[in-house]
Amino acid sequence: MEATITRALKDVVRVRNLSHYFGAGELRKKILDNVSFEIAPGEIVILMGPSGSGKTTFLTLIGALRTAMEGEINVLGKNLVGVDEKTLVETRKNIGYIFQQHNLLRFLTAEQNVSMGLELHNIDPSETRRQARQFLEEVGLAGHFEKYPDQLSGGQKQRVAIARALAPSPLLVLADEPTAALDKKTGRDVVDLMFNLARKKGSSIILVTHDNRILDIADRIVYMEDGRIVENSQRNAG
Ligand SMILES: Nc1ncnc2c1ncn2[C@@H]1O[C@H](COP(=O)(O)OP(=O)(O)OP(=O)(O)O)[C@@H](O)[C@H]1O
Ligand SMILES: [Mg+2]
Repeated sequence: MEATITRALKDVVRVRNLSHYFGAGELRKKILDNVSFEIAPGEIVILMGPSGSGKTTFLTLIGALRTAMEGEINVLGKNLVGVDEKTLVETRKNIGYIFQQHNLLRFLTAEQNVSMGLELHNIDPSETRRQARQFLEEVGLAGHFEKYPDQLSGGQKQRVAIARALAPSPLLVLADEPTAALDKKTGRDVVDLMFNLARKKGSSIILVTHDNRILDIADRIVYMEDGRIVENSQRNAG
């Protein structure tokens, strides 16, 4: 099974000398400059850095949401440089995404939003429903299954987004400022929840944040400045 093979990977993500540009001709600007990075299975990494330093761009390249131009990116054992859309789409199925704005579908209930991620994996409908509910319970949303995003608070919406991203047990979770729209306490709770679920599932996480109050829960913190990784500090547990 593919999942078994990829779980045995040494690095879930391996990036070497990655550069990326936006714009063309005289307006062409280097956004990522020779970045190298890796993340091990189950590792939780926080990515920080000033606004405009390239964090989101980096995450979208790793997440197969845009095509990489220069260097090497290997995600879940697949090379992503110069590949076709089909390969990118296949890779995305094994990644959970959580964004600053929850990105839930407004016309679907909490349960249906979580089910969507599971349906990609072709589980039968009653099993999908059972798992979606189980996950909503795990993020503290028992009793909110039938609610639409507009009927939920910001923190609750982000919990649904976490359930949706993690329910399929992705090997990799990419989170771009998931707490930016939340107050301090709610933000902390949401991140704790995400990290605990990820640890249970053995998922690796790359989380972008400006919030230095949540740094203690990461295995490692990486700083980006002007498109370069300037510091890559290993934290010791405890
Ligand atoms: N689609 C695009 N086209 C052109 N330039 C872009 C595009 N997306 C981002 N940029 C530019 O690339 C640089 C890096 O942007 P990016 O969104 O990766 O930064 P960031 O570190 O995520 O910032 P923030 O902390 O504000 O979210 C910025 O100068 C931005 O203006
Ligand atoms: Mg960003």
